[in-house]
Amino acid sequence: MIKHVLTTDSMLRAKLSRQMLTLALGFSFALVAGSPTKTLAHDYVGESACEDCHDSQHEALANIIGPNGGKADPVSVWKQDPHHSAYTALSSPWGKQAASRVNLADPTADGAMCLKCHVTGAGSSSAPDPSDGVSCEACHGPAADWQGRSQHGEIDDSAAQMQAAVALGLIDLRKMDIREQQCRTCHVKDVSQRPCYRSSEEPFSVNNDQKFRHWRNNIPPL
Ligand code: HEC
Ligand code: HEC
Ligand code: HEC
Ligand code: HEC
Repeated sequence: MIKHVLTTDSMLRAKLSRQMLTLALGFSFALVAGSPTKTLAHDYVGESACEDCHDSQHEALANIIGPNGGKADPVSVWKQDPHHSAYTALSSPWGKQAASRVNLADPTADGAMCLKCHVTGAGSSSAPDPSDGVSCEACHGPAADWQGRSQHGEIDDSAAQMQAAVALGLIDLRKMDIREQQCRTCHVKDVSQRPCYRSSEEPFSVNNDQKFRHWRNNIPPL
């Protein structure tokens, strides 16, 4: 009898301590999983910050080639790029039809599933104005920590400078694999994630960039 009680008691204790261990492990995993997201979260500044140096008035733009093969600047190109109008597209007849497929009354409402691909930084407290649609930082990365000229404007062909800027949140779009990965956050392979998908759409290609081209012919190789 006594032996039995002892056994149950020690078994119970062993079970409890296993549960505690599982809990403790679960907790520490949650902490580990939580911390990198915290250090990786950079704030957005919005497209107007880039205008200070990358619009038609400024010198940062030498030799940039636009959609028509002539001299251009990133801001003017973006202003006529379909990415710029990605937010207003939500309210088009096709946008409304797409929204009704997922029982969404207002595709532009806060938290609407459409926003994660049709605006920049949806859900972030520093997100730019949604009416800017898919703007600079949707492709180049949230810029609060790298927008300064000395943080990203002097990279040239220095891999170390690029690495430093990447650590501050710049996305190295010169690397085609990274570029494609970035486009694919919205141009998803699994089109069932897109109520707006039309079968008549041209399949996505990372090289289909003529509509928004705004870079030099020979981007410094890294
Ligand atoms: C204070 C001025 C300044 C601001 C603000 C600025 N840039 Fe730049 N940026 C530059 C200069 C200068 C260059 C180098 C251009 C060159 O090499 O011809 C540059 C280069 C770049 C490059 C190419 C990276 C490289 O160094 O080769 C990207 C991409 C870029 N800027 C994006 C942005 C975006 C997006 C914003 C807004 C979030 C922004 N910049 C804001 C000055 C600025
Ligand atoms: C996973 C990302 C994603 C989501 C979610 C998404 N879209 Fe889109 N949407 C895209 C992409 C990418 C395109 C451009 C497709 C192309 O032409 O290559 C697009 C295109 C469109 C277009 C223009 C299509 C045309 O042919 O005129 C409209 C309108 C649209 N989406 C509305 C919506 C609405 C409304 C929702 C929410 C109900 C939504 N989208 C959700 C990524 C998304
Ligand atoms: C749809 C994605 C996308 C958007 C939106 C976008 N860019 Fe870019 N940008 C690119 C790609 C791709 C390149 C070519 C690779 C590179 O140079 O980093 C590039 C290159 C650049 C360069 C470097 C040019 C060079 O020759 O080195 C600058 C500067 C730049 N972008 C600024 C901007 C600014 C400012 C905005 C907003 C007004 C903007 N971009 C919006 C994708 C984008
Ligand atoms: C934040 C989401 C997002 C990112 C990142 C993004 N796109 Fe888009 N893209 C869209 C949406 C949404 C549209 C549809 C805009 C509209 O029609 O109003 C679009 C439209 C386009 C179109 C025009 C399709 C057409 O024929 O009208 C091309 C081409 C394109 N994107 C290429 C790219 C490439 C290449 C990249 C990466 C360098 C990229 N996009 C990055 C969301 C994105």
